[in-house]
This record gives sequence, structure tokens and C-alpha cells, in this order.
Amino acid sequence: MIDYRPATESEWPAIIDLCVETIRHINIRDYQQEQVREWINRISNPGRMKNRLQDQSAWVAVDLRSLAGIITWTSGGTIDLLYVGKNHQRQGIGNRLISIAENKIFQQGVAEILVDVSITAKPLFEQNGYRVITPQLVDLGSVQLSNFKMTKRTGIAKDLNQ
Ligand SMILES: CC(C)(COP(=O)(O)OP(=O)(O)OC[C@H]1O[C@@H](n2cnc3c(N)ncnc32)[C@H](O)[C@@H]1OP(=O)(O)O)[C@@H](O)C(=O)NCCC(=O)NCCS
Repeated sequence: MIDYRPATESEWPAIIDLCVETIRHINIRDYQQEQVREWINRISNPGRMKNRLQDQSAWVAVDLRSLAGIITWTSGGTIDLLYVGKNHQRQGIGNRLISIAENKIFQQGVAEILVDVSITAKPLFEQNGYRVITPQLVDLGSVQLSNFKMTKRTGIAKDLNQ
């Protein structure tokens, strides 16, 4: 049984580990080794992650006591991190985390959600009613990463009462 709740500060190191492991084992299907290396370098920077988790709303999915997923979003309605652990893929956790973030964002009166979506996550966001604004290349220093800026507007959330 998966529990969904706000992240606590004591979980920040485990959140970094989850993101790193997911990129290493799941995103590697869609990106090159060099891109994955730079992506992991960025995400495992504790200072940068601390700023993100401090400044954003963060919810986790917890399976017994182990972390199964994380989603974060800004007060302006941008979804930032979304990672589901490599052993918890395709169990509906990504869907549920998106629903939680959407409901909180739309309840705050934000009309439009924006998200930079990886190649890996694009089918999930499409299935949740997001549309591509533009494909883009993100500069990671020595490499570029392709992803998609996607959006969803209020009124087409799946279940605003959740
Ligand atoms: C993308 C990600 C968050 C999906 O999480 P998940 O918990 O496995 O997704 P769900 O089980 O909720 O999937 C719901 C639906 O989305 C679609 N979907 C999800 N992953 C998919 C994939 N790899 N290929 C095709 N469709 C997919 C399917 O329709 C799926 O329903 P189904 O399993 O009944 O067919 C997860 O694969 C992940 O962490 N990826 C790496 C990190 C990443 O790229 N994050 C994105 C940053 S924006």
C-alpha cells in the first residue's frame, strides 16, 4: 500500500538517491550515457536540491518505509521534479502524484500548469491531458538534453475533489 504525503526535510538525501537511481536505470533508455552523467551531476548537487525542496511544494509516495516517488512544484504552477523509483514503475504512482500536484495548484487559483517533460515522461503527461508547447534543448554544460515544454489548463484536471 502506497502512502502519499508531503516530503519532510529528513527525506531530502533519500529523494536525491531516488532521482539519481531513476535517471540511471530508467531515463537511460531514452538518453545517452553522457547526458545521463551530466543530468545526475546536476540533480545530485545537495545545495541545488536543497534550494528546490525548500522553495517548492514536495510530495512523496512511500511504500512501507521506502521512498517510491517524488513530485515538486512551484507556487507559480510549474511542476519541477517527478521521479518514480525503478522498482515502482507502471504501478500508477506517477499518475497519482500528478493528480495531487494538479489539484493543489489549481486550488491555489493558478490557471495553467507548465512542465519540462523528459522523453521518458511524455506519454504519462499526454495521458494526463498535457499538450506540447515546444520541443527544447536544455544546456547541461558539456551536453544538451532534449525535452518538451508542456502545459495543461484549469478545467481539464481529472478529479478536482481528490
Ligand atoms: C515517467 C514516470 C514518472 C512515470 O511514472 P509511473 O509511476 O511509472 O507512471 P504510471 O504507472 O502512473 O503510468 C500511468 C500511465 O502513463 C503512461 N506511461 C507511463 N510510463 C510510460 C512509458 N514508459 N511508456 C509509455 N507509456 C507510459 C501509460 O499510459 C501508463 O498507464 P499503464 O501503465 O496502465 O499503461 C517514471 O517512468 C519516471 O520516473 N521516469 C524517469 C524520470 C523522469 O523522466 N521524470 C520526468 C521529469 S518531467
